Amino acid sequence: MTPLIDPFGRAISYLRLSVTDRCDFRCTYCMAEHMQFLPKRDLLTLEELDRLCTAFIGLGTRKLRITGGEPLVRKNIMTLFRALSRHLASGALEELTLTTNGSQLARFAAELANCGVRRVNVSLDTLDEAKFAEITRWGRLPQVLDGIAAARAAGLRVKINAVALKNFNENELFTLVEWCAAQGHDLTFIEVMPMGELGDALRLDQYWPLTDLRARLAERYSLAPLPERTGGPASYVRLRETGQKVGFITPLTHNFCESCNRVRVTCTGELFLCLGQEDMADLRAPLRGSTDDADLVAAIRAAIGRKPKGHDFDYSRAQVTGSLRRTMSHTGG
Ligand code: GTP
Ligand code: 5AD
Ligand code: SF4
Repeated sequence: MTPLIDPFGRAISYLRLSVTDRCDFRCTYCMAEHMQFLPKRDLLTLEELDRLCTAFIGLGTRKLRITGGEPLVRKNIMTLFRALSRHLASGALEELTLTTNGSQLARFAAELANCGVRRVNVSLDTLDEAKFAEITRWGRLPQVLDGIAAARAAGLRVKINAVALKNFNENELFTLVEWCAAQGHDLTFIEVMPMGELGDALRLDQYWPLTDLRARLAERYSLAPLPERTGGPASYVRLRETGQKVGFITPLTHNFCESCNRVRVTCTGELFLCLGQEDMADLRAPLRGSTDDADLVAAIRAAIGRKPKGHDFDYSRAQVTGSLRRTMSHTGG
């Protein structure tokens, strides 16, 4: 089978699969408080999701990340993890992992570890209980901290993802870094991207460029750049004083699209070719149209053949360009 290569010569070996558009939180930078969610009948079944992943793995996917919404609120989601773990056992897949808000980890961590998951990325922007409730609207910090502790107890590595937000978590930079060092978690900061309905002025107000954050970090720590990559978009440094790894995801200040290796599939089978572009291909029709995978594989190949070069997000000149109405929860980030 020829692997998936896009028009810019990039091999596509990383699939991010969103298994639900629902979430038990309503993070203000991500979702409106009253979201219209998809009717259940539009969702791919767990069997269809498995078939889809298996087709991608047959086409060279080596890293599979389950996302949402919040993936762990999808009913019977462990059935999918259990089924997908056969690809780890066979060696076809190198990594099976997930990005989660952590709220359900206490319940599922041990089972995830059993399915061959080795690490989880947990979204956590603040360690202040009141601020956490404010930004997630419906979330409660202790529940997430319990989830993270359960993940570690189950032997999972944890990477904390914090969106860098001006006037929100700026004053927690060192608190977050120190907490992660003490707990033994990796930490990655993310620049806020212009997705969803939030107005441009508000988006610019909350944007905290990671060039600034990094300079602030360098006032207290010596940063040694690391060559290593996880297959994701972050670049990493090691803080000499603590030995911990800190990552930076910088779509705005340092575009990383050149090394893009990923695509996304939503819970209804839309294949999004780029996080920052509208173009997508429907995989549900070929999936449901035939029990044979030929049409599905042809649809995937045709879509990869038109993967765009990159996003057009830009905040320079004090203006937002390249924004998308689609929320991050639609594609799982
Ligand atoms: P690792 O495997 O730990 O490297 O994870 P990852 O960075 O691939 O996945 P994660 O879900 O932790 O991604 C964190 C966030 O980075 C996402 O929610 C997005 O906000 C952002 N991100 C991930 N991939 C892309 C990408 O391809 N383009 C852009 N612009 N942002 C991305
Ligand atoms: N910009 C950057 N990151 C975002 N996330 C959600 N919305 C945005 C945005 N507009 C992050 C969440 C989570 C991941 C899935 O995406 O905080 O870490
Ligand atoms: Fe790839 Fe698009 Fe993300 Fe750039 S913005 S890294 S091209 S998915």
